[in-house]
Amino acid sequence: MKSRQEILDSLHLSLPIVAAPMFIVSQQQLVLECCKNGILGTFPALNNRTTEGFESWLVEIKQELAAESERRGKPMPAYGVNLIVHKTNPRVQADLEVIVRQQVPVIITSLGAVREVVDAVHSYGGLVFHDVTNTYHAQKAIDAGVDGLILVSAGAGGHAGTLNPMPFVREIRSMFDGVILLSGAMSTGQDVASALQMGADLAYMGTRFISTKEAIADEGYKQMIIDSGTREIVYTASVSGIPANWLVGSLEAAGITKEQWDQKGKADFGAEHEAKAWKNLWSAGHGVATIHDNPPVATLIARLGAEMRAAMAEQADRLEIWHGE
Ligand SMILES: Cc1cc2nc3c(=O)[nH]c(=O)nc-3n(C[C@H](O)[C@H](O)[C@H](O)COP(=O)(O)O)c2cc1C
Repeated sequence: MKSRQEILDSLHLSLPIVAAPMFIVSQQQLVLECCKNGILGTFPALNNRTTEGFESWLVEIKQELAAESERRGKPMPAYGVNLIVHKTNPRVQADLEVIVRQQVPVIITSLGAVREVVDAVHSYGGLVFHDVTNTYHAQKAIDAGVDGLILVSAGAGGHAGTLNPMPFVREIRSMFDGVILLSGAMSTGQDVASALQMGADLAYMGTRFISTKEAIADEGYKQMIIDSGTREIVYTASVSGIPANWLVGSLEAAGITKEQWDQKGKADFGAEHEAKAWKNLWSAGHGVATIHDNPPVATLIARLGAEMRAAMAEQADRLEIWHGE
């Protein structure tokens, strides 16, 4: 098994950031822009309607990155694919075969942490990072041999957890030597610096990347993220059956009422509502509070880097004040 440092080195990142996979939002163009600008780009395999289409995206990403690597004379950052390992996903086996054939560097598994998937990815030298929201599932994933754990904490976009990231990261660190990725509500370089300070190795950012030029999200969705603060986010299982964070404005626009989204479990919104989870009911995390624009990915990543470094320098300066006498 590779050490944590060996894994991090093998990713060839310029910044400790992963652009998280997002259903409907992320595709190959977003991944390429992320990798070309020094961070790890990812997408869910299911964002392409077919296994064949999924493989064609992988081929495109590999060819572009190989050409870019040739041009720059150095390795490009790794890219990753999210595989939903659950009986409700009929494509798991076929998509996994494609992943092995194309030797995708990083696989992000959600729902099931399965030894066979980990072994298949390790067979060609790939890495598996697994999504968890608590220590119970973290232990199962550790037992399955994953290389990294993605700690999906409170306030995250998508199916968020409920734990505060500070104790969550430290608790997982006490039981796991691998890579820790922190997920949830980070949108600025200061947030990335904070994640590292808390003990995470990488910041795993979703919502921030929805409001970028290259994300294929609806323009209204991007604008609603810019216009929203934490008050405009609601954590409810009523939309998909699993608790997730949603933009209140998108629920209201579909005619869904507070009474409906406040109920326990998946709600029946009725056929009169054009309410489709992810497509026109839009998910976003608490990180909307610090998203104010819709820049190209290159601009965003440059800014995140500058903010992260400034935040770290500021922390170092504080030693002058808090020197312990
Ligand atoms: C619109 C949206 C779609 C998402 N789809 C997926 C998905 O298909 N697979 C997955 O593993 N995570 C998914 N996530 C979760 C993200 O990968 C990530 O954990 C989360 O966005 C991080 O929190 P943040 O949005 O607050 O930065 C989704 C998140 C959002 C906002």
